[in-house]
Amino acid sequence: MCSAHRPALESVTVISNQRLAEHVGRVVFEAPRTAAAIRPGQFVHLRIARGAAFILRRPFSVFRAGAGKLEILYQVVGAGTLALAEAKPGDGMDLIGPLGHGWEFPGGMAHALVVAGGLGIGPMGMLVEKLARLGVASTLAQGARSADQLLARDIFEDTCRHVEVATDDGSAGHTGLVTDLMDDLVAADAPDIVYVCGPEPMQRIAATKAAQAGIPCQVSLERLMACGVGVCLSCVVETTSGLQRACVDGPVFDASEVAWAGAGEAAVRR
Ligand SMILES: Cc1cc2nc3c(=O)[nH]c(=O)nc-3n(C[C@H](O)[C@H](O)[C@H](O)COP(=O)(O)OP(=O)(O)OC[C@H]3O[C@@H](n4cnc5c(N)ncnc54)[C@H](O)[C@@H]3O)c2cc1C
Ligand code: FES
Repeated sequence: MCSAHRPALESVTVISNQRLAEHVGRVVFEAPRTAAAIRPGQFVHLRIARGAAFILRRPFSVFRAGAGKLEILYQVVGAGTLALAEAKPGDGMDLIGPLGHGWEFPGGMAHALVVAGGLGIGPMGMLVEKLARLGVASTLAQGARSADQLLARDIFEDTCRHVEVATDDGSAGHTGLVTDLMDDLVAADAPDIVYVCGPEPMQRIAATKAAQAGIPCQVSLERLMACGVGVCLSCVVETTSGLQRACVDGPVFDASEVAWAGAGEAAVRR
C-alpha cells in the first residue's frame, strides 16, 4: 500500500450538516488527507465527541469524497449518531481512515447493478461515480421505508443509466423489498456484476438472486467494530475460508465466499 493510502489520524472540521429526513442526515467534513486517499467502499472511524460514551469510534462509509471534502450519510440510532446530528459547521472531530477493503472493479464490465437498502446507500455514491469514470453503466435499485428516506436520489438520477425504487409503504415505486426489483432488472438489462449494501437479510437475498443468475456479486457487510484495524476481533464474518475481519478483510466481500447461514447472527441491522 502506498503511504498516501495508509490509514492515518486526521483532524476534520464540519463544513455542513443537513437533515435529510426523519433521523437521517448528511454531514460534510473538511478532511483533505482522507478525501484524497479513500477509495469506493472504504470507511472511516470517527470520534464524534469526547467523554466516556465516545471512547469507541463509530464506523461510517464515505458516500462521496473530493476537493478536500468527505460526505457521510447517517441515521440516528444511538448516542454517537445523535451527537453527529447535532454537530454544527466549524465543529472539530477526528477520524482514522481510509479503512477496510472496498469495492473491486473487475476488468471488462459494461453494466453494473447496484442494490441498496436503507442506509446501505452509504457506500454507493463513490461506487457509481467510479463506475461512471470507468465507462461502466450502472443501474441502481434503491429501497427504503418510505419515499422521503430514499436518499440522494438526484445524485443517482444524474450518474446512473437507470434508477428503480421500492418502498415498504408504497409511497414511491414498487411496494415491497428492493430485492423484488432484481429479477426484472436482470432480465431487462443483464449486469456483469451486482454490488449490494443494506440490512443483512436483504443482502443475503440479493446474493442468492445474483448467484442463481450466474452474476458475480460483492456485498458490504456491517459488523460492530471496536478497533477498526484488525486487532479486537469484534467484527468477524464467517466465510468459506474461515473467520475474517470485516474491518480489514472487508467490509466488502465476494458474496459467494460469505457463509450466509451464520452470517446474520452477529450482524447489526441499520
Ligand atoms: C463499515 C461500516 C460502515 C457503516 N456506514 C454507515 C453509514 O454510512 N451510515 C450510517 O448511518 N451508519 C453506518 N454504519 C453503522 C454505524 O457505525 C452505527 O450506526 C453507529 O456506530 C452507531 O453508533 P451510535 O453511538 O449512534 O449507536 P449506539 O448503538 O449507541 O452505539 C454503541 C456502540 O455500538 C457500536 N455500533 C452500534 N451500532 C453499530 C453498527 N450498526 N455498526 C457498527 N457499530 C455499531 C458503536 O460503534 C458504539 O461503539 C456503518 C457501520 C459499519 C461497520
Ligand atoms: S473492529 Fe477490531 S478486529 Fe475488526
